[in-house]
Amino acid sequence: MPHAVQVKQGQEYWFCVCGKSPDGLCNGSHEGSGKSPRQFIAEQDETLYICGCGQSFNSPFCDGTHKTLAPIL
Ligand code: FES
Repeated sequence: MPHAVQVKQGQEYWFCVCGKSPDGLCNGSHEGSGKSPRQFIAEQDETLYICGCGQSFNSPFCDGTHKTLAPIL
């Protein structure tokens, strides 16, 4: 599921692309995964939806790919 992240105009964020972060923001969990967080500077105050499954083709943003994944039992 995607993470809703509220961003503020002009602020820098580092978004998770590995899918291991609990809130969509990099917490260092990518270490050893071969993936690196994506820098983002907000152009406006808004809510962004950050991929939480690590499978988006428009990383770090959710593109709906999570809807096609088999559920984890
Ligand atoms: S949460 Fe990964 S594509 Fe939506």
